[in-house]
Amino acid sequence: MTMLGKRLRLRAIERSDIPDFVRWFNDPEVRHYLQMFMPMSQAQEERWFEAQLSDTRSHVFGIETLTGKLIGNIGLHGIDWRESCAELGIVIGEKDYWNNGYGTEAIQALLRFAFMEMNLQRVSLWVYDYNERALHCYQKCGFQVEGRQRQAHYHEGRYHDKILMGILREEFARADQVANHSIPDQGRENTNHGEGHPVMG
Ligand SMILES: CC(C)(COP(=O)(O)OP(=O)(O)OC[C@H]1O[C@@H](n2cnc3c(N)ncnc32)[C@H](O)[C@@H]1OP(=O)(O)O)[C@@H](O)C(=O)NCCC(=O)NCCS
Repeated sequence: MTMLGKRLRLRAIERSDIPDFVRWFNDPEVRHYLQMFMPMSQAQEERWFEAQLSDTRSHVFGIETLTGKLIGNIGLHGIDWRESCAELGIVIGEKDYWNNGYGTEAIQALLRFAFMEMNLQRVSLWVYDYNERALHCYQKCGFQVEGRQRQAHYHEGRYHDKILMGILREEFARADQVANHSIPDQGRENTNHGEGHPVMG
């Protein structure tokens, strides 16, 4: 099963994707925008992958072009079934694909899945204040700025703010540019319990 966009699909991640993840997360230009700051080994990423297999509160998907090239990953973390919310994280690791709308398309596909299949009510994310491209991309997708943690991130010798953004199901329904999708607001059932934890968008 995949989530389809116009030029990409979101699919399950596979063990064979791990070398690409390690390459991306060791690229200083990519990492500049992410939480991780230590060099990452293949073994660490393998351990993360194994943990993902049994983690019911976190789902990560590969972002693949329709020609089958893996360009990034995107996930929902800290899924809280009682509060119907989760935190989004995304990386387009192949830098040649930045600024071409792939991030926007991947987020829209994931939000559609989050609201229409997982029955979430709210998706949020954290982004560093200097990540102008991501901020612009999230705003295009309908996220609103909800708050700011001042000087909560230390990077390259100084402190930066972390910005909290969020989108609600009804806001997504309005922003969703794909025709013929409707999002019911009623009949939602939540059976599992859990708590959220912060991740960087
Ligand atoms: C952030 C990221 C997911 C966005 O995906 P993308 O495919 O590059 O983004 P898109 O092309 O869909 O949208 C980016 C928008 O920001 C704009 N933009 C780029 N640089 C910008 C800047 N410095 N200031 C303002 N806007 C900028 C682009 O022009 C584009 O807007 P437009 O479509 O209106 O022209 C991707 O760049 C990425 O993974 N970056 C590295 C890791 C990262 O930052 N992850 C997110 C952590 S919160």
